Amino acid sequence: MTVKIFDTPEVQDFLNAVAGVDQSGGNDRAKQIVHRLVGDLFKLIDDFDVTEEEYWAGVNLLNALGSQTQFGLLSPGLGFDHFLDMRQDAIDAEAKRTGGTPRTIEGPLYVAGAPEAEGFARMDDGSDADGEVMWLTGQVRDVDGTPIPGAKVEIWHCNSKGGYSFFDPSQDEYNMRRTIYADSDGRYTARSIIPSGYGVPEGAPTDVVLKSLGRHGERPAHIHYFVSAPGHQHLTTQINLAGDPYTYDDFAFATREELVVPAERIDDPAEIAKRELDGPFSHVVFDVELAQTDAAELQVRHARPRAKEDDQDLASQLAGTAKV
Ligand code: DHB
Ligand code: FE
Repeated sequence: MTVKIFDTPEVQDFLNAVAGVDQSGGNDRAKQIVHRLVGDLFKLIDDFDVTEEEYWAGVNLLNALGSQTQFGLLSPGLGFDHFLDMRQDAIDAEAKRTGGTPRTIEGPLYVAGAPEAEGFARMDDGSDADGEVMWLTGQVRDVDGTPIPGAKVEIWHCNSKGGYSFFDPSQDEYNMRRTIYADSDGRYTARSIIPSGYGVPEGAPTDVVLKSLGRHGERPAHIHYFVSAPGHQHLTTQINLAGDPYTYDDFAFATREELVVPAERIDDPAEIAKRELDGPFSHVVFDVELAQTDAAELQVRHARPRAKEDDQDLASQLAGTAKV
């Protein structure tokens, strides 16, 4: 078919009406963005000869994604989260804010309000019998190597079946979620279990999209971090454990070379006894360097609807209903 109507005055006038360009009320930025977004989609329909059947299948898929609160899951899979990181990296570079541990995506599964501890926390509740003990430790420093005592280190990860507490109601509240304030030497230590990889639920709308692209929905074993301290740039990052089949094939595009960390198996009885453990464990070390900044807005994480972040905010509550 050769029908192309997008560039006709009739369609362009129609697009202006759709985006409220001729209305005095509303929000100018919303008008500009909707004009561009709808216009690009109109043009796409023209260029690809999208059929009615295809269009309504697309609408139905969006409904399915929305009804299971899965846009937050699909977003990393379609690379938006990593693209936003690439932009933030470029913004930092332009402002000459360089150095420090690289950022990478937050993902959709953070829950605010985890228990707080000083220096050390045990993160797991001991119920995951398949999980190998993980001793996770590191030092928070500035880019000159000076330790940052009291730095706030928020850590969250999934269990040995890939489930995150809160989203997986079979787990205790805040299982494998903790906030640890670094000790006087900038060090933090957590006892937990080695997480497994994570997979998008089979058959879920996100999985349907990925399968249509010939892609999988697997992530390597990973551990999420928010790290912050006064006078320093807030860091959102995660480590990907080395040796996982998906370490370099992450559907969420979060892997960065500097963030691939080995888990070293330790079976020396003296090391086991020192940590009051019952048997061999895996040692994971992740030191973090934060860039300095005086700008208050760079010292905190950016706003986003997050589970349990704000009880009064509907979007925040909705973020907690994702089917993952
Ligand atoms: C997704 C899940 C994660 O655990 C994560 O860290 C990032 C993305 C997801 O399902 O999209
Ligand atoms: Fe995750």
